[in-house]
Amino acid sequence: EKGGYDYFMLKEIAEQPKAVADTLLGRIDASGSLTLDEVRIPGQALREVDKVVIVACGTAFHAGMIAKYAIEHWTRIPCEVELASEFRYRDPILDPQTLVIAISQSGETMDTLMALRHAREQGSRVLAICNTNGSTIPRESDAVLYTHAGPEVAVASTKAFLTQLVACYLVALYLGQVRGTKWGDEIHAVVRDLAKISEQVERVLETMEPVRELARSLAAKDTVLFLGRHVGYPVALEGALKLKELAYMHAEGFAAGELKHGPIALIEDDLPVVVVVPSARGRSVLHDKIVSNIQEIRARGARTIVIAEEGDETVVPYADHLIRIPATPTLLQPLVATVPLQVFACELATARGNEVDQPRNLAKSVTVE
Ligand code: M6R
Repeated sequence: EKGGYDYFMLKEIAEQPKAVADTLLGRIDASGSLTLDEVRIPGQALREVDKVVIVACGTAFHAGMIAKYAIEHWTRIPCEVELASEFRYRDPILDPQTLVIAISQSGETMDTLMALRHAREQGSRVLAICNTNGSTIPRESDAVLYTHAGPEVAVASTKAFLTQLVACYLVALYLGQVRGTKWGDEIHAVVRDLAKISEQVERVLETMEPVRELARSLAAKDTVLFLGRHVGYPVALEGALKLKELAYMHAEGFAAGELKHGPIALIEDDLPVVVVVPSARGRSVLHDKIVSNIQEIRARGARTIVIAEEGDETVVPYADHLIRIPATPTLLQPLVATVPLQVFACELATARGNEVDQPRNLAKSVTVE
């Protein structure tokens, strides 16, 4: 049932192009408009939403962090994202105009379930983004947008994450469409770019051998750091989480702008630091800032592992290892930038002799608080 792969995780990484395509299927019409009729929240209620709150755990939380950038940019609705386990213990401000989005692969995560119950008690509407038909979280929500990743068996979430991102982008674009937004043209362009992602993920997967080789060469290291800015920051956190849970290494993700506020003190000779470089088009300030960050850490001895889009030559002089990803709009970049980090963590875990599909101390779905 592993389809010829050694681990479910490898199979699930390879299934990502299909998972992404399946999650888009039937949700965009020929004119490039979104047809999310399955989200049975009336248009009027969506127009009245004045705040979005996203709750989730682990990898799903990282998808939520990325969703915040998309929702605020395309809809101008303020959006908060919070770890489900923290949410209800701080008396959050919720009312019927708040749309709560609960993201969960399994649909059974107790922390997320308790957060959504709390939100509904306060009168908020809850939309679940979930991969498991008929599970508890969608059953207890007002509406659900299913991700179509298919069953995910490996404890480390991969294809579910990519499809959670797709679902979040669809919700953000749909909110923009229903409410009318000044980004109308951009939304159509993004829909076209989303349709290309499946093929771009496929291309990333075809070029992963150097990443595997690099991972094997780092098997004896104790620490790997990950840096990103904007949507690359949650990608850095996700890369670090994958490495912790699979390779049992000390791995930390930072917002690159925070380096000088503390973490740069960690940099020492030959410390591997993975840097996610934002798309070169459109956001040049962000891009230039991260190039300076790469220079800063390299000057202090870091071994830089740079993930940058094809054609971005500015990073070449400062990259000890360069991992290329296809060019995408900035907001969509996590869909391609995360893939090498999954492969990296999986290969490091294998090189360290760890059990890839069943990491120690972890369960696929965490049904206790
Ligand atoms: O089933 P869920 O999406 O609610 O699970 C949330 C987390 O437990 C999950 O993403 C966990 O962090 C993964 N093991 C990460 O790879």
